[in-house]
Amino acid sequence: MDFEFSDEQKILQDTAHRFAAEEIKPVAAQFDVSGEFPREIIKKAWELGLSSTCIPEEYGGVGLSILDSCIVTEELAWGCSGFGTSIMANDLGLTPILVAGTDTQKKEWFTPCSQEFKIVSFCLSEPAAGSDVAGLQLHAEKDGDDYILNGTKAWITNGGVADLYTVFATLDRASRHKGICAFVVPAGTPGVSAGKKEDKMGQRASDTCLVHFDNVRVPSAQRLGAEGEGFKVAMKTLDRTRPPIGALAGGIARRALDECVDYAKERKAFGFPIAEFQAVQFMIADMAKEIEAGRLLTLRSAWMVDAGMRASKFSSIAKCFATDAAMRIATDAVQVFGGNGYTREYPVEKLMRDAKLMQIYEGTNQIQRLVIAREVLKE
Ligand code: CAA
Repeated sequence: MDFEFSDEQKILQDTAHRFAAEEIKPVAAQFDVSGEFPREIIKKAWELGLSSTCIPEEYGGVGLSILDSCIVTEELAWGCSGFGTSIMANDLGLTPILVAGTDTQKKEWFTPCSQEFKIVSFCLSEPAAGSDVAGLQLHAEKDGDDYILNGTKAWITNGGVADLYTVFATLDRASRHKGICAFVVPAGTPGVSAGKKEDKMGQRASDTCLVHFDNVRVPSAQRLGAEGEGFKVAMKTLDRTRPPIGALAGGIARRALDECVDYAKERKAFGFPIAEFQAVQFMIADMAKEIEAGRLLTLRSAWMVDAGMRASKFSSIAKCFATDAAMRIATDAVQVFGGNGYTREYPVEKLMRDAKLMQIYEGTNQIQRLVIAREVLKE
């Protein structure tokens, strides 16, 4: 075992941290208020090789491992998790192509995303099917060698700004998971439209909206994997993308700790900096403990994915632990700041709002516990 990052990983971490500190952190509060999508900054991240990182080198990408992408994601989320989510969601959208695409499909869809800045979006959840993927309703009807897609996807990250969607649809709702297919659908395809943009509590720099599919004709060459394999494509994708969610939560938590340490050394009560009081020190100690534990779980699950092991249990453990920890840590950060923490003048209330989403997306933490329990009971 080796807990040290390689020299290349340290450079990657440094690059991502400098980008977060110089390009993201100074404007994070502004985008939190406006709710606008920071396209130009996301593009800069792509230019530095910090986005669409899963595209293998043979298709012109940077081909980062999941572990390396976790290193990047933690740093970006330290700057602002809304930006981190927008950047990470590109890889989420591309991963179904990585796990199920043929060489021809990878050439067709990866190459343009390596050569030009493109935004990709993963369309799985629906208004009536968030946790229950097998219950999704978006219908794919066979028409000769094509499919006609009809239905609506909900809470789609990058949904209103994407150039390309990976979409999950069912041939037959009664077949549950066995009827699901995965498709690649360019945003310009007739019948594809972005719907209502969500006015979110946190992570407001990330674009989240409905995406409608109205008689969208998709050639079978754009289907990823065989008919009926779409559910497993989605699950294999989430196994790979949940470790980076642990890293994203780690970035929020680390930022909360950094803010608390600075504040506690400055702020005085009863004539002393509050950092000298055990009540505050214990909160800081618990934050540090949980950040370290979350990072170890995250990197371990990423390492398993990179080693080609089935990582469902560990990806869910990492996602669940690190995101619950981020919520506790951000809440305690507001406590350390006291009345100041509850105002928008200080950065910690944003961290608390941002952290909440981490327990919900990429599978609620109740679903993560379900996955963990099923795997443990099977062992
Ligand atoms: N890898 C490969 N195969 C898998 C698998 C995995 N990780 N997990 C399940 N499967 C297989 C099973 O072995 C089973 O195969 P057979 O038919 O061959 O037996 C099949 O898939 C069905 O599996 P289950 O019986 O376990 O399916 P289920 O319906 O009981 O539910 C679930 C599974 C875990 C609840 C799943 O629906 C789930 O993960 N739900 C959460 C959805 C989610 O995470 N959504 C996030 C959306 S993306 C997002 O939020 C991103 C964003 O915006 C940033």
